Amino acid sequence: MRKKIIAGNWKMNNTVGQGICLAKEINLALRVKTPQCTVILCVPHTHISAVEGIIDHDKLFVGGQDCSIYEKGAYTGEVSAEMLFGAGARYVILGHSERRSLCHETADILKTKVGKALMHKLKIIFCVGESLEQREAGKHFSVVEEQLKQSLFHLTDAEFGKIVIAYEPVWAIGTGKTASSAQAQEIHAHIRKTIAAHYGKAIADECSILYGGSMNAGNVKELIAQPDVDGGLIGGAALAANTFLPIVEAY
Ligand code: PGA
Repeated sequence: MRKKIIAGNWKMNNTVGQGICLAKEINLALRVKTPQCTVILCVPHTHISAVEGIIDHDKLFVGGQDCSIYEKGAYTGEVSAEMLFGAGARYVILGHSERRSLCHETADILKTKVGKALMHKLKIIFCVGESLEQREAGKHFSVVEEQLKQSLFHLTDAEFGKIVIAYEPVWAIGTGKTASSAQAQEIHAHIRKTIAAHYGKAIADECSILYGGSMNAGNVKELIAQPDVDGGLIGGAALAANTFLPIVEAY
C-alpha cells in the first residue's frame, strides 16, 4: 500500500517564533488524534531545526523547500542537502513551479539537486505541472511526462522509491482555482502510467502522487477519494492550524 501524505508548504511565511507556534499547535492536535496519513511540514531553512525540536517524530516530519546544486564550499547564501538533513529535515521539495519560474531552475538543475538530496538521505517531493497556456493547448500530459523524464528517469529503481510526486497545475497554485477531481484523477493516472512504462507497474503502484493547488478543507475529500490521488501539497491552507488540520483529518 502506498503512503498517503499531507504536506504543508509554508513557502516564505512565518518568523521562526510564529512557525514554532504553528508547529506546536499542529503537533498537539495530532497527539490527541493520530493522523491516518504521513504529515510533513516543509518550512523555510531557518526554521527546520527549531520545528524539528518540538515535534513528535512518529507523527510529523520536517522538510525543506529547496536545496543547493552544490555539495559544499564558497557558495554564499546556498544551503546544501547535507545541511538540511543535519538540521532535521527528512524531505525536500524540488521543482516547485515558483522556483522553476522565479529562480529559472531548469530540468538539468533539478536533476542535479535530486542527486544531492538522495545522496544525503532526503526523500524528495518532486513537483510537476503545466501552465494555463499549456493546458489550454492540450499539452498538459506531455509537459508532465517531460518533467518526469528529464529530471527523474535516470534514477535507479531503489532511488526512485524515495520520490514522491506532487502534481501542481500552475494555474491552480494560490489562485483559489482547483483542478476538478476528474481532471486530477486523469493526470495522476497518466503520471502513474508514465512511471509504469519506465519502472514497471509494481514501482508505479508504490509511488505516492500528491495533488497541489488551492487544496483546502472544502475540496480535499473529493480529491483524495480519487484512486490515483495519494494526498496533497498544501500552500495557503497550511499556514494556520484551523485550515490545515481538517485536510489532515480528511483521511
Ligand atoms: P496553494 O499552494 O495551496 O496555496 O495553492 C500549493 C503549493 O504551491 O504547493
